[in-house]
Amino acid sequence: RLLIIDFGSQVTQLIARRLRELNVYCEIHPFQNVTDAFLQDFAPKAVIFSGGPASVLDEGSPRPPESVFALGVPILGICYGQQVMMEMLGGKVEAGQSHTAEFGRAYVTPGESRLPLLDGWFADAAGREQVWMSHGDHVSELAPGFEVYATSPGAPFAITADPARNFFAVQFHPEVHHTPNGRKLYENFVRLAGFSGDWTMGAYKDEAIRLIREQVGDKKVICGLSGGVDSSVAAVLIHEAIGDQLTCVFVDHGLMRLGEAEEVVSMFRDTYNIPLIHADEADLFIGALEGVSDPEVKRKTIGKLFIDVFQKHAHEVGGAEFLAQGTLYPDVIESVSFSGGPSVTIKSHHNVGGLPEKMGLKLVEPLRELFKDEVRALGRELGLPQSFIGRHPFPGPGLAIRCPGEITRDKLEILRRADAVYIDQIRKHGLYDEIWQAFVALLPVRTVGVMGDGRTYDYACALRAVTSVDGMTADYYPFSHEFLGETATRIINEVKGINRVTYDITSKPPGTIEWE
Ligand code: XMP
Repeated sequence: RLLIIDFGSQVTQLIARRLRELNVYCEIHPFQNVTDAFLQDFAPKAVIFSGGPASVLDEGSPRPPESVFALGVPILGICYGQQVMMEMLGGKVEAGQSHTAEFGRAYVTPGESRLPLLDGWFADAAGREQVWMSHGDHVSELAPGFEVYATSPGAPFAITADPARNFFAVQFHPEVHHTPNGRKLYENFVRLAGFSGDWTMGAYKDEAIRLIREQVGDKKVICGLSGGVDSSVAAVLIHEAIGDQLTCVFVDHGLMRLGEAEEVVSMFRDTYNIPLIHADEADLFIGALEGVSDPEVKRKTIGKLFIDVFQKHAHEVGGAEFLAQGTLYPDVIESVSFSGGPSVTIKSHHNVGGLPEKMGLKLVEPLRELFKDEVRALGRELGLPQSFIGRHPFPGPGLAIRCPGEITRDKLEILRRADAVYIDQIRKHGLYDEIWQAFVALLPVRTVGVMGDGRTYDYACALRAVTSVDGMTADYYPFSHEFLGETATRIINEVKGINRVTYDITSKPPGTIEWE
């Protein structure tokens, strides 16, 4: 196994992700925990030093133990990790000046000699590679045994190595998307270290189960289910680990799509035999939303009620010491990098991961290291059906935010039926998996139409479909006119209460994906 020593970089988890993609098992450990004894015990086959926010020039800045260099295994130092390595092995690091600091895209060009770590690099016509730099300090003198293998304008020592010892040091971040050939570099590194690349998501599952058992012991766990992929995968995984020590609480706010609540209940109770409390609280939620038309007030009302209802039902379980959540890695970084930051609140997001710490329960978050696509892979490993795993994201406040203005039961029913027709159309045309998210929003306007020989005065709706990688930015999906025409006809014919269909062609930004 491979050891990643974490010096606090925002992107350390991306290193782990790149390695998992190469089917290599790795563990991230914060530098404070990595002692001589730890290294002996862990016996890594290779080590990576992550980047980090500190400067090696500061007194007391983080270091790995000296003994790491005596293990005789390949080591890769990234950014701060590179500087630590250089300094500890006898080189020098200088404080950054404005002309040597580099942030963002840079290009490195190769030196004279070839380095196996860089096989497959510099292959295009220009003979250079794009990399992502983010450093103030830089290495100014190499440690004995090291040579330069690539340079960039701001980093004469962009890639250096001591090939005899298999020590590699890079100033940039090969793990990020903006170093397009970074994966190749990791591939070469793990090959040099002798990994066979036979680790799988199945092995991840086994390890996650072991860790859950270790954490929870014989105590009880409750898990909030939203019907979405993340909380469902977390619940099934935890159930596999501790069986009926787990109870799920599904807060049904009456704002789900057609047939969705029933599906969740039957999947958990009948297919998986997981103890489930179905808190059918539609009346409560819809009652509380009466007369509310402001989007933020809607979101906050739902969020607050959700917590109250969840707590009430969680108490019924009695004696639970743990709360399980389907928090993913992107949620972890977002809350770290943005909490308390200067960014404004566009929307108060609500999800089952937002339950308060004041419940006094310890958290079990088995998906904390994973990205969405990895959670899907884990779900497949756990036997969840593909049709469920591949589902588009659905927001915590549900259909309430797809009905701009005040919601009523009638409007929700119309919306449910229109949405079902739209999604059916998308599936029939084989487009579901190409689209990141699709739904209908029911507009708070009624318009005049003519059907048969009669006048109609019904609601207008908007179809929304976007492509995206992470929901942060999005573009509208370019349906054919035929598809749009056919879908409009079907919705108007099949859904009583709608007589006009529009297509939303706004990207994000400036729009958001949801209408509220
Ligand atoms: P927006 O509308 O902000 O949405 O562009 C981005 C993605 O987030 C989903 N979304 C939510 N998910 N709780 C959630 O769990 C929420 O409160 C929430 N609001 C929006 C939205 O569906 C899209 O996928």
